[in-house]
Amino acid sequence: MRVLVTGGAGYIGSVVAASLLREGHQVVVLDDLSTGHEDAVPKGAEFIQGTLRDDSRGALGRGIDAVVHFAAKSLVSESVARPGLYWDNNLGGTLALLDAMRIADVRRIVFSSTAAVYGDPVRVPIEETALTRPTSPYGASKLAVDTALAEYARLHGFGAVSLRYFNVAGAHQDPGGGWLGERHSPETHLIPNVLAVASRLRSISSGAAAAASSGSAAAAGPAAPGTDRPVQIYGDDYPTADGTCIRDYIHVTDLAAAHLRGLDASIPGMRRVYNLGSGAGISVREVIEMCASVTGVDIPARVAPRRPGDPAVLVASSARIQAELGWTARLDLRAMIADAWACSTAQPR
Ligand code: UFG
Repeated sequence: MRVLVTGGAGYIGSVVAASLLREGHQVVVLDDLSTGHEDAVPKGAEFIQGTLRDDSRGALGRGIDAVVHFAAKSLVSESVARPGLYWDNNLGGTLALLDAMRIADVRRIVFSSTAAVYGDPVRVPIEETALTRPTSPYGASKLAVDTALAEYARLHGFGAVSLRYFNVAGAHQDPGGGWLGERHSPETHLIPNVLAVASRLRSISSGAAAAASSGSAAAAGPAAPGTDRPVQIYGDDYPTADGTCIRDYIHVTDLAAAHLRGLDASIPGMRRVYNLGSGAGISVREVIEMCASVTGVDIPARVAPRRPGDPAVLVASSARIQAELGWTARLDLRAMIADAWACSTAQPR
C-alpha cells in the first residue's frame, strides 16, 4: 500500500513510518516541522514539508491508498493556555485533510487519538464504552475528530480507525537508521524527565572521576548550579498505594504494530475505536525506581505540588483490540526505559 503519514517527523509518526516501510509499504510523510524533526523521517520515505490545510491535496495526489494521521498539537498544558490553537490545528487541520481525502477518493484512515478523551475515569480499566468527558482542549479536540470520523464513515463511506493511546514511552530501533525516540521541547513526560536527571548525574560523576584521576581541584568542589535538580514528583497524596499517580505505559514499537493492524482494519464504511495500553498500572515512584535500576544511577526525587488536571489512575482495557485485531502489548516497562536510555545516549541521527 502507499500510505500518507501526516506528522511522520514526530516521535510516534516516525516510528510508524519506519514500521510501514519495513512491512513493504511505500510511505509519504507530510509534516510542517513545527514540532517534528526532518532527520526523524525514515530513509525510504518521501518527505513533503507542509501543512494539512495547504498540502493535503498535493500529498494525496501522489497515488495514496490510505492515511495514518498524527499531525497535531499534543501538549495538554499548552491546550489549556491556548484552546483556539488546538481547535484550529487539531480539528480544523483534520477537517481539511478529510475533505481532501473525500475529493481524492482516499477513504482509509487510522487516527492518532488519546486516552485524554475520557478525562477523569469513573472506572478502571477504561473501556471504549466509557463516558468521554475530556478535561482539556487537547482531549476535546481529539474527541471532536473521533466524532467527525464516525460521520465520515457513515456519510462518505470512510474506513476509519481511532487508536486511543495511553502513556507512550520507549524508543524504536530502526535497522535502517538508528534510534527513533522522544525529542519534545519542552519535555513534559515523566520517563524522559527522569532519564534527563540520570544522564546529568552520570555525566557529572564521570567528569568528577576524570578530574580526580587527573588531580584537578574541580573534583573536590561543589556541583555546578542547576546540575543537582532532582526529579519532581507531582503529588504523593493521591488515593493510590504509594500516593503517586498511576499510568498505563506502552512501548512505541508495540504502538506502531497496532497501527499496522489498524490499517488492515480500516475497511471502507467501517468505524472502529480501540484503546491501546498494556493493562498494567504503574506509579510515578515505580517508574523512577525502574529508571534507577536500568541506568545504575541513584536518581534523586522530591515531591512537588500536584499538576492540575492529572487524574489519579489511568489504565486501559485493551481487550477490544486484542479480541478483534489480535494485538497485544509485548514489551514491558523495563524495555521501554532501556530503549529510551539507549536512544538518549546514542549518537544523534
Ligand atoms: N510526572 C511527574 N513528574 C514529571 C512528569 C510527570 O511526577 O516530571 C507525573 C505526572 O503528574 C503524571 C505521570 O507522571 O502523573 C505521567 O505524566 P506524563 O506527563 O508522562 O503523561 P500524562 O499521563 O500526563 O499524559 C498522557 C499523554 C497525554 C494525554 C494524557 C491524558 O502523554 O498525551 O496522558 O491524561 F493527554
